Amino acid sequence: MDGKHALHIEADLHSTAQAAAARWAELAREAIRERGAFHVALAGGSTPRALYEALAREPWRDQINWRATFIWFGDERCVPPTHPDSNYRMAQETLLALVDCPSTQIQRMEGERDPHAAARDYQRLLETRLPREELPDLPPHLDLVLLGLGSDGHIASLFPNTAILNQQIALTDAVFVPKLSAWRISLTYPLIAAARQVMMLVTGASKADIVTAVLHGAAQELPATRLRSRSAIEWYLDRAAAADFTTGDASC
Ligand code: 6PG
Repeated sequence: MDGKHALHIEADLHSTAQAAAARWAELAREAIRERGAFHVALAGGSTPRALYEALAREPWRDQINWRATFIWFGDERCVPPTHPDSNYRMAQETLLALVDCPSTQIQRMEGERDPHAAARDYQRLLETRLPREELPDLPPHLDLVLLGLGSDGHIASLFPNTAILNQQIALTDAVFVPKLSAWRISLTYPLIAAARQVMMLVTGASKADIVTAVLHGAAQELPATRLRSRSAIEWYLDRAAAADFTTGDASC
């Protein structure tokens, strides 16, 4: 590996969530101090629940300026926001309903709509509300993109062998995932790569093989191995998911 990754390996799920929450709080402080706002895209699935629950409790809840925090989503299932599978619903229940982030600063992907129209509208929101680099032709940038990792190496809804992997222009897109027989809405590589920081949060023994495959640059291109970032991708792992790596690896 070429220094694209920085590993933070903790003993278990709880300590991994605490370490990731501490890093979130640090990134939020920096962004708000320097630019007046912290724009973060949340991951879906089940792994981030422990992080969101930690952020909604002491010490992190009161350390973070939620009034200056802008919540985005990395991807969404094409279901209503009240559906049990909705990433928005999960984030709402574990974090957003419990902190003082204005609802006008929480932008969910509208999974209940036509996915292509919802993806286009989400891109417009990103383009109008995210700060842009000095060079206008660069994509706007989020301060933090939080990602989980699927056992097949997908991140957000960038699934293997899907057309969205080749999307290099749009910042969001709709994608039909054959293995799920379902549509998804997702951020694309260009927007994720433009983020100031990308954080991978992966826990559990079931993810050990895919973590090794991704960090050792798997032979076949996995969606996660294609990820590029402005800075080293920070991995927050418990020991079970990082089975093939030593605790506290600084970078690799
Ligand atoms: C989703 C996620 C997806 C998730 C991985 C890992 O909508 O499912 O955004 O990319 O992060 O599938 O999911 P788990 O955390 O449930 O293992």
